[in-house]
Formats: sequence, C-alpha cells, structure tokens
Amino acid sequence: MLRPTPGPVYYDGPEGEAFEREVAAYVGMGHGVAVSSGSAALLIALLALGIGSGDEVICPANAYIAVPESVIHTGAAPKYADVLEATANVDLTTIKPHLTARTKAIIVIHNYGHPVDMDPIQSLAKSRGIAIVEDAAHALGGSYKGRRLGSLSDISFASFARKCVSVAGQGGMSFTSNPEWATAMHQYRRHGWNPADAYRSTVGRIGYNFTLNESNAAVGRVSLRRLDAHNAARAANAAYYTGAIGARRLPLRPLDVMPWAKSGWLHYVVRAPRRDALVEALEREGIEASVHYRDPVYRLPVFLERTGEDPGPRPVTDQLARQIVSLPSHPDMGERDLDAVLDAIAAFYRG
Ligand SMILES: Cc1ncc(COP(=O)(O)O)c(C=O)c1O
Repeated sequence: MLRPTPGPVYYDGPEGEAFEREVAAYVGMGHGVAVSSGSAALLIALLALGIGSGDEVICPANAYIAVPESVIHTGAAPKYADVLEATANVDLTTIKPHLTARTKAIIVIHNYGHPVDMDPIQSLAKSRGIAIVEDAAHALGGSYKGRRLGSLSDISFASFARKCVSVAGQGGMSFTSNPEWATAMHQYRRHGWNPADAYRSTVGRIGYNFTLNESNAAVGRVSLRRLDAHNAARAANAAYYTGAIGARRLPLRPLDVMPWAKSGWLHYVVRAPRRDALVEALEREGIEASVHYRDPVYRLPVFLERTGEDPGPRPVTDQLARQIVSLPSHPDMGERDLDAVLDAIAAFYRG
C-alpha cells in the first residue's frame, strides 16, 4: 500500500523539542517553550500568567525595549522601577514604591548578566501573591547565591539573538516548572493548539504564531554545549579589563560585582566620562562599543501616549544612560585584543 512520504520537518520537530528539554534542564526549570524571539517568550509568559487590561507590571526603567513593550501588548501598564547605580539592576528598595493593589507581576532583568538580589523580591512577591518573571536574556549560566539564573521565578525567559546561546538568527525560550503555564505558553506560541493534540483540531485559547524553526533549534543545541566555556572566557575578559583599568589608572568605573553574584557577563559595562566622544573615538579605530541603553525606555513618547502617564524621572537610570558603555568582550577575544581596546581608550583620555 502506498503511504504518503512525510515531508521535511522545518518546525515543530525533534530538534526544537530536544532544544527545549536541554535548555530547560540547564536552567533548572521543568519546561521550556521555544519561540521565535526573546520578546515573544516574554509576551507568552505574561499571557500565561493571565496578565491583561487593568493590571500593572513593575519592570526596570533601565530595560531593553521588549520588556515594557510586551507588558503593553497584553493591555497591562508598565510601572518603571529605577535601578541601583552599583549594578544597574532593580532591587527591593527600587521596586517597593511602585507596588499597588493592581500589581500583578514584577519583571526583573539580570542586566548584562549580573544577578538581581532575588531573595527579598521573592519574599515580597510571595507575601503579596505577585508573580515574578525573570529576564535571563543576558544571563544564561550565571547564578545567584549558587542558584542558576532563570530558575528563580514563576516564569523566566532567554533570548538567543546575539546572546550567550545563539541560534544563528532570532530565537527565544520561556521556562517554567508549572505544567499549566507551560501548556498555556505552548498554546500561545501556536494558534492556541494543544501540543498533545496531534491533529490540532482543538483551539484552547487565542494564540498566535511564534514558532522557532528546526534549523535554528539545531544550531542552538550546539551553541548550548559551548555556553560554559564561552561564559568562562567572558568572565576572564571581564577580570582582565577590570585589573587593567585599575593598573593603567583609566578614568573608567566598571559596574560592581556583588559577592553573591556569578555574572553571565554578556556585556562588560563601565561608566565612562565623555562617553559619547569615547564611543565615537573607538568606532573610528574599528572597535565596536555599544550602549545598553542610551534612551531610557520609560520615557519613550509612544509608550507614554499609550499608557497615558508621565512617570517622572528615574534619576539613576537617566544618569547611567549618559555614562555607560559596553566594551567588546566576545569569548574569542584574547588579551592582545583586550589590550588594543584599552590602548585606544588610554589614547582617547590622553588626547
Ligand atoms: C534584556 C533583554 N530582554 C529581552 C530581549 C528581547 O529578546 P529578542 O531580541 O530575542 O526579542 C533582549 C534582546 O536583546 C534583551 O537584551
């Protein structure tokens, strides 16, 4: 009897499933849901938590645009917590002023790979029945008091676009140990279909299409195997930069590293006098120095129009936005490359 030949599997296949299992196991969560970007991973996380119109979600004022954007797409309102000058991260003291009866979730970002001080935030969230969503886009492989980043919340997520794990394109994944939220996120990922229903005849909720391609998942699986080695190289680069900045008496101030922190070190960030001129001088030397983030997201006019409020200044975020720069610290860089960056910085400040 003639059987139809199965066509090639471009998505919803074994590579994607293996990638989900492997990254979730690495992070220390029961389930992974692979999607087409980190932004999509955050959106389905918020939807699975039931966040929507009338709710408030606290997020860092020093944030990548996807964070408040995802909150706004659910219909909820982002409330922006300022950050600490030492780490550029939120903590309990910066979050607390924004708590109201409408607060449904707190999104923490382990900015640049450095962990947020999670214990006090977890206690607060538990006592008030608020969900925590953890943005581990910069931080896979990092840990807080020995606990893996991405495992310290109700739902966490990662991005795989030019991050510590790469899928050679766009990709992301959400993680949870709650099977109901995992099923909900699977459904939101693909048109509300239940992953257990092979014929996809039932639509459990209104979803969308955020599927990750098999080819990207396959690349991601290889990249995951290199994560620890790459993170160790990035950590060594960071230590070298910090030592050399002190030894050469450069006027740069690296962000602090807390004693309980093991950073993922996606970005090596310093506070630099005359930052914009420095970035231009480095660019002229062919050295890429990016700024995460130059225009604080909480002041974006289109966001303010949509949420109908002017949140007022967030002074530390504003100050950091003028000062910080991420020096190149790719795992393939050796001490000679780092010295070339440091030489160019020294020449700029001498000049
Ligand atoms: C902190 C942070 N959160 C979320 C995202 C969103 O991830 P993606 O670009 O994969 O949508 C990024 C991306 O750079 C990020 O840096």
